[in-house]
Amino acid sequence: MWPYPRTLAHRGGGTLAPENTLAALRCGLAYGYRAVEFDVMLAADGVPVVVHDVALGRTVAGRGAVSDHTAAQLGAMEAGAWFGPAFAGEGVPTFAAVVEYCRAQRIWMNIEIKPAPGCDAATGEAVARATRGYFAQEIAAGESLPLLSSFSIAALQAAREAAPELARGWLVEAIPADWLETAKELGVVAIHCDHQQLTPALALEVKGEGLGLFCYTVNSPERASDLLAWGVDGFCTDRIDLIKPV
Ligand code: G3P
Ligand code: MG
Repeated sequence: MWPYPRTLAHRGGGTLAPENTLAALRCGLAYGYRAVEFDVMLAADGVPVVVHDVALGRTVAGRGAVSDHTAAQLGAMEAGAWFGPAFAGEGVPTFAAVVEYCRAQRIWMNIEIKPAPGCDAATGEAVARATRGYFAQEIAAGESLPLLSSFSIAALQAAREAAPELARGWLVEAIPADWLETAKELGVVAIHCDHQQLTPALALEVKGEGLGLFCYTVNSPERASDLLAWGVDGFCTDRIDLIKPV
């Protein structure tokens, strides 16, 4: 029920490089990570870009919202210098550029749909459509595809309508009481939860229903072993230096 890699570099390169940049992907690869998670949001012109926060200011030098700027404007913004001078000049990459890099390097992707407020369906639809376009060959050949995921139910529903052939994971913090019903309604293949909210009993229940179980964000090798022993299928980590990729 989890035909995907077990260990993913969170936001491209974990906390060893500026998150959600091409430099992060290069860093992940340098540590042997050929599987990544990253976040995708829509720019003002509707182009999907790879960034986590709705607001500029933390990782991207600028003011206002991501969704107030075009992809070209975001690409020209400074998204690396906050992490260190060696990374100065990294911009906010487009989703297209990140997919191109990952495909070229044979890096598997968990694409998190991260809608700005009020843009849930539009983001889910745009990301799914774009992914379907990039992976047309693999879809036709029945080959391995990326996994979409989102905390947003509306985004997951829109992604399903736009590209039903792309598998989806449902992101939650704690697994809610009605998880099975909701997972069935959404037609997701996996539940992605905060590992700190998971119990062995819940893990057993989820796995017993044949769903994939993915955890974020696991930063110690000991915790990773415990979770895998509970039946967790995969996880993302910020500590790509401490946890060896599988
Ligand atoms: O996809 C797992 C994880 O990335 C979800 O939380 O806030 O880091 O995007 P966040
Ligand atoms: Mg994420």
